[in-house]
Amino acid sequence: MNGLGQGNTDCFISLSLLLLQLVQMFCHSSMDLNQDQHTTEGYRPISLLNTMSKIIEKMVNNRLIWYLEKHNLLSPHQHGFRKNRSTNDILVSLHTDIADALVNKQNIILVSLDLKKAYDTVWRHRVLKIIQKLNIHGNMLKFINNHIRERTFQVKIKSTLSDPFANENGVVQGSSISVTLFLIAINEMTTQVPPPTMIKLFADDALIYCKGKNVSSIKNQLQLTLDKLSKWSLETGFSFSPNKTKCILFTHQRKIVKPNIQFENKTLDYSDNVKILGLIFDKKLNW
Ligand SMILES: *[C@@H]1O[C@H](CO)[C@@H](O)[C@H](O)[C@H]1NC(C)=O
Ligand SMILES: *[C@@H]1O[C@H](CO)[C@@H](O)[C@H](O)[C@H]1NC(C)=O
Ligand SMILES: *[C@@H]1O[C@H](CO)[C@@H](O)[C@H](O)[C@H]1NC(C)=O
Ligand SMILES: *[C@@H]1O[C@H](CO)[C@@H](O)[C@H](O)[C@H]1NC(C)=O
Repeated sequence: MNGLGQGNTDCFISLSLLLLQLVQMFCHSSMDLNQDQHTTEGYRPISLLNTMSKIIEKMVNNRLIWYLEKHNLLSPHQHGFRKNRSTNDILVSLHTDIADALVNKQNIILVSLDLKKAYDTVWRHRVLKIIQKLNIHGNMLKFINNHIRERTFQVKIKSTLSDPFANENGVVQGSSISVTLFLIAINEMTTQVPPPTMIKLFADDALIYCKGKNVSSIKNQLQLTLDKLSKWSLETGFSFSPNKTKCILFTHQRKIVKPNIQFENKTLDYSDNVKILGLIFDKKLNW
């Protein structure tokens, strides 16, 4: 199994594939509708996957994570769902960056991006292409292909079950390997951010920020980055909610004009504080 080594894992995955094919006809997800039943926005499918395929998947996933980490294939800016990385890392390094900037009489603008329905929009073909580029072939690739292709789902309202639908885009939520596939799919977002703009990701929570003395050059940097991200999203099937995207300017200067930043044709709103991974940062960095 090219690049992934270890004969017994290979053998195991072969066996798993066989088993999966056997259970496939029983293995589809169903969706419980318990949210606002009158809007489609409120529905987010949670898969109830067959237990055996879940176990197999978990083992394959561990192997995939091992491979990604061993070869440093995930961006160091991604902190979500990874070993030895946590929300604390992001919060601490962000706090340090902002505090340093303020001490040096710089200003810093941070944009907290909102990816809408991030888990539903990962394009299957794209994920498979990226995986092949990462030199993952053989049974691992077959397993992943199988996992994202052969999905059907049904909608259950009270006791009525709909006909099965094929799941066109996206990875199945609530399955361990889907999280890893998502991390792979979003990984190159970090390459769209030219320095000195910085990015921090925690799964689908993305922050970009830039610091300096000159607010209009900070603005230019961020604008460049946002335009690139917007283009990237069109090419990759991700989409942002400009309405939920927030900006914050950290500064000690009293009289400062907040520059207009556009994102997908919307002028971003400034806030006096922003909630980052559950913690509120205010514009003077009191928290
Ligand atoms: C994670 O941390 C543990 C203990 O601190 C260490 O042994 C291990 O090598 C670390 N793993 C990575 C991928 O850095
Ligand atoms: C700030 O940057 C803008 C654009 O990059 C430039 O036109 C302007 O002269 C700069 N201002 C100062 C005070 O350096
Ligand atoms: C975003 O907000 C504007 C006005 O605040 C509204 O007109 C527009 O419909 C909103 N867009 C979405 C996609 O919600
Ligand atoms: C922004 O506006 C331009 C021109 O009006 C349009 O072509 C483009 O599709 C818009 N972009 C978005 C993301 O709405």
